[in-house]
Amino acid sequence: MDLGYGNPHQTPNLGQCMDPMVIAPSVLTANLAALAEDCQEAIDAGLHWMHLDVMDGNFVPNLTFGPPVIRQLRKALGPEPVFDAHLMIENAEACFQDYIDAGCNHLTVHVEAVKHLHRLVNAIRDGGASVGVVLNPGTPVEAALEVLTEVDLVLIMSVNPGFGGQSFIPTVEQKIKRLRAAIDEQVANGGRPVQIQVDGGVKAHNIAMLRSWGVTNCVVGSGLFNDRASVKTNLEAIHDALS
Ligand code: DX5
Ligand code: ZN
Repeated sequence: MDLGYGNPHQTPNLGQCMDPMVIAPSVLTANLAALAEDCQEAIDAGLHWMHLDVMDGNFVPNLTFGPPVIRQLRKALGPEPVFDAHLMIENAEACFQDYIDAGCNHLTVHVEAVKHLHRLVNAIRDGGASVGVVLNPGTPVEAALEVLTEVDLVLIMSVNPGFGGQSFIPTVEQKIKRLRAAIDEQVANGGRPVQIQVDGGVKAHNIAMLRSWGVTNCVVGSGLFNDRASVKTNLEAIHDALS
């Protein structure tokens, strides 16, 4: 199925994505000095989403990369992989188009960092990308429910953002289940299907539990990019856990 991911100026319809569990490798624990090579390793292992953790050293206490690096990564990897940019930045309103123009198919913005969320999610879609909103562990699910009709994805943070390799916060369970119920109700009423993505501390040992809660898209960083094994071997462990 052509989801339009190859064209950064075409909005992919994430609702059409039939994969029961998308695995989105977070590049944060990859070798950032050899980013294209590590992403290619993930692609060769069978993954087609790339979760790009954009940090501004302001909204979160860490700094990664921005549009110039993403543009080069798009050139290196070609049009196929989905570039899922997790924008941990202040003032996404001012610069979201730069990320789309650099080759991102999908942008997710933090409700805690945006003044006019409803306006921004629609501006992102009009700008040519699909759109998600993300909730920090301390943010109630209601913040996402207010824009559920407008978005393709809701990302539930299961760590406080800023660093890879942190431990999963189990109290997100109720938030995920309430979100699942709200999306099911929206779909039952003919509304937009919305992916539930979870980010932080997702590993082979807890991914089946997340699926049972209704999660459809898992970001995995240190569970895939680590010194213990190749991405392919680590991914096999995740597939085993899901089978
Ligand atoms: C945290 C990032 C995550 C994180 C995932 O701020 O958004 O994408 O790096 O890494 P792991 O899977 O190691 O928690
Ligand atoms: Zn992330």
